[in-house]
Amino acid sequence: MLANNTDTKFWDKQATNFISWFSKWHTTYSGSWDTGDTKWFAGGKLNASYNCIDRHLLDKSDRIAFMWEGNEANQNINISYQQLHDEVCKLANAMKNMGIKKHDKVCIYLPMIPEAIFSMLACSRIGAIHTVVFAGFSHNALLDRIQASEAKLLITADAYMRGDKYIALKNNVDLALNNHHNSIAKVVVVDQSKYITNHNHNINWITDRDIPYEDFISNQAVTCQPEPMDAEDPLFILYTSGSTGKPKGVVHTTAGYLLQSCMSFNNVFNYTSSDIYFCAADIGWITGHTYIVYGPLANAATSVIFSGMPMYPDETRILQIIDKYRVSIFYTSPTALRMLMSKGDQALSSSSRHSLRLLGSVGEPLNPDVWRWYQHKLGKDNCKIVDTWWQTETGSIMLHPTTDNQLPGSVGKSTDYMPVVLLDDDGNEISGTGTGMLAIAKPWPSQVRTLYNNHQFFMETYLQCYPGYFFSGDKAHRDKNDNLFIIGRMDDVINVSGHRVGSAEIENVLIEHPKIAETAVVATSHNIKGECISAFVKLIDGCKANSELYSKLEQLINEKIGAFARPENIFIVTDLPKTRSGKIMRRILRDLVNNKTEFGDTSTLTNPEIVNDLRSQISR
Ligand code: WT7
Repeated sequence: MLANNTDTKFWDKQATNFISWFSKWHTTYSGSWDTGDTKWFAGGKLNASYNCIDRHLLDKSDRIAFMWEGNEANQNINISYQQLHDEVCKLANAMKNMGIKKHDKVCIYLPMIPEAIFSMLACSRIGAIHTVVFAGFSHNALLDRIQASEAKLLITADAYMRGDKYIALKNNVDLALNNHHNSIAKVVVVDQSKYITNHNHNINWITDRDIPYEDFISNQAVTCQPEPMDAEDPLFILYTSGSTGKPKGVVHTTAGYLLQSCMSFNNVFNYTSSDIYFCAADIGWITGHTYIVYGPLANAATSVIFSGMPMYPDETRILQIIDKYRVSIFYTSPTALRMLMSKGDQALSSSSRHSLRLLGSVGEPLNPDVWRWYQHKLGKDNCKIVDTWWQTETGSIMLHPTTDNQLPGSVGKSTDYMPVVLLDDDGNEISGTGTGMLAIAKPWPSQVRTLYNNHQFFMETYLQCYPGYFFSGDKAHRDKNDNLFIIGRMDDVINVSGHRVGSAEIENVLIEHPKIAETAVVATSHNIKGECISAFVKLIDGCKANSELYSKLEQLINEKIGAFARPENIFIVTDLPKTRSGKIMRRILRDLVNNKTEFGDTSTLTNPEIVNDLRSQISR
């Protein structure tokens, strides 16, 4: 817990420097991890959209907030801070006039277009809570999240292109909402099909539910008073995957989250007003929330946002964007880097990249060879590398190297005000060099406050495993100079190309197939994606596998979760390794698919012979 006054003084100072308050807080921190009740800056009033827009207007209204590059290279729009203000206010007024009130939930299901950002900020302007659902999620996943968050309004787009693929987003919305119980009263639809001329659009319209975005905001005033929010009022809910089958609604609150978004963007990237920043993430994930929307905007930064595919029309796309907009800070995932790296030096020769000065990485371990390629090849030895470790739950970057401590593979050192420690299996802190579970030893402002409608599960998942610590689920190593190296997740969470999915979520979908008796899903290391998904499937007696079965299983995953969660391998097997209590030992499956030859202790298995059987079954 915050044991001393130095921490309170530290956070007071940050909150004064980085945030504009309508009224000052009286208590910096109060609460207890025993009950999971965490309050930062109690008594303070502020508004996130005011901090991201209005406070910059006096002297920076013409500054560009976003340079949007669409799927096609000639599809681009610049948006100044003044324009951002006007668009956000119009949408905020439209939502207010429709009856959306403070604390109502609004679901945003949009591709990476400016309206996605307008929507998030319009919510925060009127005190509504946004819940963004990644546009790559299927209609079933969307419905789950709408039902769980009780959202009243949905903002979506009709259709869009991702690379050369046509995505009928509104069709997903209809599949999710029509004939299913849900809380959505109105659906606002952004016209994106206007950019797609060579396609026959077939967009279904429900007249008393669906509203074109243009009509929704037309005639709305371009000013809207930002709602003064309490420091601890929720800002958003973002669903993420855990080890159970159900997604977890991570709740972030206004002041703490905004403070650390703003502060970390400034400090980690050493941001200055002459920088052009490009984060190649999607707003559907936490990286997009913190480092495309709230962090950069709170710093009045100029960012590139990109809604295409990194490899479309060819592998040089991202590099072309860096040159075109003279990007100086680039933030991406190891998967994107490995993809580019696999294309060889030829791809790099098409761009100069001389505007770059700092290169960031997030989401998965950045292996030393990729780190070196990032520095030497992509960055031409002109750039610092910052590999940043954090999670949806931490809200903002917790670990990052400083620019004078450049060590391939390391995410830097723990700090006094956000101490990250390593624990052994008994929950004791490891000192010095060692490997253990990564945990956080003190509350910090941008910490997840609860899981929406499930505080008990929040307590069990994060705070009760090792009392006094916030449990991250990751494993890490510390060297003799206190540098930390992330090894990966220790739970049943799989990190595919930086997208987080739970084994149980995939298993729950596969098991729905009538031929399947049992299934277990594990992570397999993959040289581009970092990790990919391997599914072990045991069929009901008498059922036979055929190619139809494989494609049906893939289709089920597409429909229930989204294409990004499709297994790379599906192994049909005769049995699964089980303990006497009937639990499937995923550890053994993990070792098998990762070509390990030692399987540790298998004495608790009821069917130890299965290990060798499986080895020959999967090698076929
Ligand atoms: C998990 C969190 C944080 C935004 C993107 C993902 C892994 C995150 C790193 C890194 C190694 C990393 C961890 C973490 N992770 N950053 N720099 N090196 N692994 O957010 O979906 O909440 O996933 O991503 O395993 O627990 P998320």
